[in-house]
Amino acid sequence: MSNKYLLGIDLGTSGTKTVLFAQDGTVVASATVEYPMSQPQNGWAEQAPEDWWNAAVTTLSRVIRESGVAPEDIAGLGISGQMHGLVMLDENGAVLRPSIIWCDQRTGVECEEITALVGAQRLIEITANPALTGFTAGKIRWVQKHEPEIYKRCRHILLPKDYLRYQLTGDFATEVSDASGMQLLDVPNRCWSDEVLGKLGIDKAYLGKVYESAEVTGHISREAAALTGLSEKTLVVGGAGDNAAAAVGTGVVADGRAFTTIGTSGVVFAHTDKLAIDPKGRVHTFCCAVPGAWHVMGVTQAAGLSLKWFRDNFCHAEMEAAAGMGVDSYDLMNQEVAKSPIGANRLFYLPYLMGERTPHLDPDCRGVFFGLSAMHQKRDLTRAVMEGVSYSLKDCLNVLGEMGVTPAQMLATGGGGRSELWRQMLADVFGCPVCTTQSKEGPALGVAILAGVGAGLYPSVREACDSMIHVGVTQQPIAENQPRYAACYDQYRQLYPAMKDAFKRLAQ
Ligand code: XUL
Repeated sequence: MSNKYLLGIDLGTSGTKTVLFAQDGTVVASATVEYPMSQPQNGWAEQAPEDWWNAAVTTLSRVIRESGVAPEDIAGLGISGQMHGLVMLDENGAVLRPSIIWCDQRTGVECEEITALVGAQRLIEITANPALTGFTAGKIRWVQKHEPEIYKRCRHILLPKDYLRYQLTGDFATEVSDASGMQLLDVPNRCWSDEVLGKLGIDKAYLGKVYESAEVTGHISREAAALTGLSEKTLVVGGAGDNAAAAVGTGVVADGRAFTTIGTSGVVFAHTDKLAIDPKGRVHTFCCAVPGAWHVMGVTQAAGLSLKWFRDNFCHAEMEAAAGMGVDSYDLMNQEVAKSPIGANRLFYLPYLMGERTPHLDPDCRGVFFGLSAMHQKRDLTRAVMEGVSYSLKDCLNVLGEMGVTPAQMLATGGGGRSELWRQMLADVFGCPVCTTQSKEGPALGVAILAGVGAGLYPSVREACDSMIHVGVTQQPIAENQPRYAACYDQYRQLYPAMKDAFKRLAQ
């Protein structure tokens, strides 16, 4: 076995995780540092880029120190990150304002303006997506309008993971998968769109150079090496947005393959070698990390976030008990949920804490418990949350189905994907087998694989996946559960249309 190693950094919403892998994909060391998300107003969401960088430095130093691996043996590093966030830097590379991140919903008006400026049809032709509140272009326009003095000082616009790249290598660069979520990329042609940039008054010089995901974008700088313990010889590849990275990390790199993530957000993602666009824009089409291919994906804004919100606000006893027993609080919650029947005793939850993308594209809707009765216990509420998120993911799968993308099997990943109970729920709701991979490190492994390709350890992304990914357990749908969930899903689908106007009034 070769003695080369690969690093993957995953800049998530709840924390940054850095994992050091051996060349065969085995985890050698891993470290995570968490940080807060601030919500200065209802529907807003911001984070401090400095927190991300501090978390990267701490976790990199820790894995290098704890693994005892010689830094020169780390051939390559890849970065995966939460998509769409806006990082603005001045001419000296200093951060100008907190990052407005992916789940921020403040840009409804700006999106209407972008649609009017570029033209609805043309915008979909070029960026493969309609103007969406989560995407970066609307956030840039918001700063242009509401904080003109900041925009005047802005010289660099980066995505979250590309800010880490800048700090690690000094390069202003991005890659096609994450850049697809900015609404500034010509997605069919994999380059910045002069037409969209011109209409939105954004200087192309502010944006980094666009690479393919496995291409080398630079090497660790002397300053970053001193701070982290990394070697200046370690190369850094393009990396990928968290979903494209998870695809590589679970081997979803060929037609017919798909995965579901339950992280902070929830995603149903399918690879496609041919460009496919939903004319209604309910699912996203992005460039994927395999050169010359794309993916389509539906997004549930608050998937794991719904359960975390519920746990953090209402499950302090479970969190304390879990800490005392040295187990995960979600495992205790799962044990309780198993005692509540399918349908949670006729209780429903709509996971719209941060508005919703697929299939409603509605920044104004909000979370709902529907059908509360005095007979309900906490376990029913927890079960309703997990079921509501599963139904919302089923909404995503249905839209892919309408586009002719019908995966025969689904991989589950993300924190929620580690729950056997939640995976069985998905298998029963989706009506297809749901499996796992042996590695729990989806996005971090994905970008380490890309780094392995960039470093020349593997000839292609697909071949690297074959060597570094090992399939785990598979759960089959349970025949008697399926009609029970199907009846609940029918009921669930009637709730949003019934409340749509009320959500609008609430937002006003
Ligand atoms: C994808 C999306 C989320 C973020 C956060 O479009 O917004 O999945 O990448 O993880």
